[in-house]
Amino acid sequence: MKKQKIIIDTDPGYDDALAIMLAEKSRLFDILAITTVAGNSTIQNTTNNARFVLNLIESKTKLWSGANAPLKRKLIKANVHGKNGLDGATINKEEKLTNNAVNKIIENIINNPNEVTILMLGPLTNIAQAFVKEPSIIPLIKEIIIMGGAINVPGNKNRVAEFNIFVDPDAADIVFQADIKKTLIPLDVCNNIFFTLIDFRRLNDSNLYEIIYEMMKKYIDNIYMFEKIRGAIMYDPVAAYYLINSQAFATVEMDIQIETRGKLTRGMTVVDKRVGEGKNKNVSVVQSVDKEKFKEDFFNILNS
Ligand code: RIB
Ligand code: CA
Repeated sequence: MKKQKIIIDTDPGYDDALAIMLAEKSRLFDILAITTVAGNSTIQNTTNNARFVLNLIESKTKLWSGANAPLKRKLIKANVHGKNGLDGATINKEEKLTNNAVNKIIENIINNPNEVTILMLGPLTNIAQAFVKEPSIIPLIKEIIIMGGAINVPGNKNRVAEFNIFVDPDAADIVFQADIKKTLIPLDVCNNIFFTLIDFRRLNDSNLYEIIYEMMKKYIDNIYMFEKIRGAIMYDPVAAYYLINSQAFATVEMDIQIETRGKLTRGMTVVDKRVGEGKNKNVSVVQSVDKEKFKEDFFNILNS
């Protein structure tokens, strides 16, 4: 069976690292490229970290680095991933930055019209730049899956906004306005899906287990410090799982716009819930996922 063609845009980040492993080890995808973006950490760190993960799982997937800052704002990094974005892992190689993620996204879409799904795991800067540079690719993309947003729950970067959207709200605004099939996996779902260190004992590859264990120890401590949740929140792996088993998810169509000017509400995913309004339903929003099925498949795939 022909493998689904995907591009993964990412800012590793502990959960990004697990999402990349999940997608790669599922062997379900023809991963045309992994493109990195600044977000959880600097572009140098997120690119170093992406290379570390690809080497760890002996993947030959092409890696291209992208934006080192949001479209119009200063980079505001995350707290929970440590000073280099993957604290706990031994990152001892400085990956050469290619600065060509935007062109590689454009090239791969043009070469594979209507076949490519893009999995967005960080701020939407690279894809927004690609849309601005080459609007003709928009109708050629099969679907964009986005880990981001907060619908009926508080934000995790300000009172109302989720980190990926908060960091680059202008890029998110471009993407949400684009006439393209979008699916959003928001905090409403991800906040309830977290693993403990005991869960990770289910990994049977001792080398992989040791490395993931060291990272998850730090991630879990940081998540409790900043989010008051006791566990490794599986934000990006849940988004990757949507590609693996969308049947495990329930979605609803919504009319969402992105707040780009608010002093308190920067990055808010603003849903039009008014009766008789909200007619521009521009995104499918995940409402729920079969948590047990996700956990079972996650460890089965990583153990494969
Ligand atoms: O809000 C969670 C998102 O922000 C995840 O993608 C995490 O990796 C961080 O980038
Ligand atoms: Ca991420």
